[in-house]
Amino acid sequence: MSEQERVYIFDTTLRDGEQSPGATMTLEEKLQVADLLDEMGVDVIEAGFPVASPGDFEAVSEVAKRVKRASVAGLSRANKRDIEVAAEAVRFCERPRIHTFISTSPVHMKYKLQKSPEEVLELIQMSVSLARNLVDDVEWSAEDATRTERDFLCRCVETAIKAGATVINVPDTVGYATPEEFADLIRMLIERVPGAEKVIFSTHCHNDLGLAVANSLAGVKAGARQVECTINGIGERAGNAALEEVVMAMRVRNDVYPFTTGIDTRMLTRASKLVSAVTSFPVQYNKAIVGRNAFAHESGIHQDGMLKHTQTYEIMRPEDVGAGKTSLVMGKHSGRHAFRTKLKELGYELSDNAFEDAFRRFKELADRKKHVYDEDIEALVDEEIATATDRRKVVALTVIAGTMGPQTATLTVDEDGTHRTVQATGNGPVDATFNAIKQAFPHGARLALYQVHAVTEGTDAQAEVTVQLRDEEAGISAVGRAADPDTLVASAKAYLSALNRLEARKARVRPMSTVGDEPLPEAERRAGP
Ligand code: KIV
Ligand code: ZN
Repeated sequence: MSEQERVYIFDTTLRDGEQSPGATMTLEEKLQVADLLDEMGVDVIEAGFPVASPGDFEAVSEVAKRVKRASVAGLSRANKRDIEVAAEAVRFCERPRIHTFISTSPVHMKYKLQKSPEEVLELIQMSVSLARNLVDDVEWSAEDATRTERDFLCRCVETAIKAGATVINVPDTVGYATPEEFADLIRMLIERVPGAEKVIFSTHCHNDLGLAVANSLAGVKAGARQVECTINGIGERAGNAALEEVVMAMRVRNDVYPFTTGIDTRMLTRASKLVSAVTSFPVQYNKAIVGRNAFAHESGIHQDGMLKHTQTYEIMRPEDVGAGKTSLVMGKHSGRHAFRTKLKELGYELSDNAFEDAFRRFKELADRKKHVYDEDIEALVDEEIATATDRRKVVALTVIAGTMGPQTATLTVDEDGTHRTVQATGNGPVDATFNAIKQAFPHGARLALYQVHAVTEGTDAQAEVTVQLRDEEAGISAVGRAADPDTLVASAKAYLSALNRLEARKARVRPMSTVGDEPLPEAERRAGP
């Protein structure tokens, strides 16, 4: 296999990215981001615009001092002070770069700069040669290049190269270009400008029309070998080309873009999360590569395909971008195949009838609920199992209570159609009732919770009882609930229901040794911190 050409990744998250309204980062946060970019293999980190503020100066010089692998660039306009301050800021970097720019389009020259084309050419010559006297690596940018008159742009680029620029950046400052136009512009510059072979051409595309990544890739195909981009695509207005998208496009579609980068793609998700956290800019759920839904499937057809072969609906592996793993989100669009797989994962093996019943109930639940969690499915199936294995029932209960103890419970239970009556005493009527159940069905579980609620008001209120039993040896718990106008009958039923569930759970094969507690009721679970 022939060695592929290298495309350099120039990250401007800390400069153009920070120019997004509201994305300001503290020095500490900038250093964190810079460390991660460096470790990830970014070639150039544009750390800020040193003359803009003392804070920006400090950030650039601190990043310049600590970064080990990458070049560190400081931005400057085409004037002496900017360039000298930028040079000072990157002074302690192993590989310092000054990035100087000036507008070249008619609209920018006339209204923003209020300078003639000849004056702009002079400033290019002055700024690049001054920067080149201070550092070896000088990048020159033609701001608004894509709206610049082509002959004039060629003259500007030629001037910059003659003055010593090492990199020529071609910004689509207002995100106006289309991929074909942008590729054509890069190709034209490489072909027409004398000395073009001595420099690296670079893309810097904004995303106003959503074409930043497409334009950058088109630029690379046309001969650019540096791409300027930001993590999560943050930047002025609609942002810049997203680093993770550019890099993964070249990796996944290497047949179309036969280039390599130095990026460790397994760090992309981490970088995205860090930048999102420090800027407080959320990443849209469906964002390519790093969005939380990028590897999530809900439709039954897709889930079925994924379970048969991951390549049916995934063009890259989540681990290649550092994302956890593919998730089959259980929701109303999920089908039988995914539901069966999920049950297996959770350790359930149901008969065909029980499965159909559980699936029907799952669909009903999914219709009502936005998110169906594993615990919801467990609760749903546990109920199913408990009903199916409800072999033991309370038939009759008589309790003698009052001041003349001991309190005595006489309990008749049904087990598989056979009735049995037992009697037990206890420290109070509830204790006597539970002791009677223990006598009828000896077990080692301990009572972890006993709760009584009156469902309605008044002395004839229906009592709702919750019992939680815990088997310490097996490390599992189960909850039973029952309601009855007689609190003691409700208590006996709830206890027996918990016992039935506990035995059913114990019989169930679970993949992991650490089996969690019975899930809390939905309302309590969601009310957490
Ligand atoms: O978008 C732009 O033109 C810029 C330049 C400073 C490179 O950010
Ligand atoms: Zn920009």
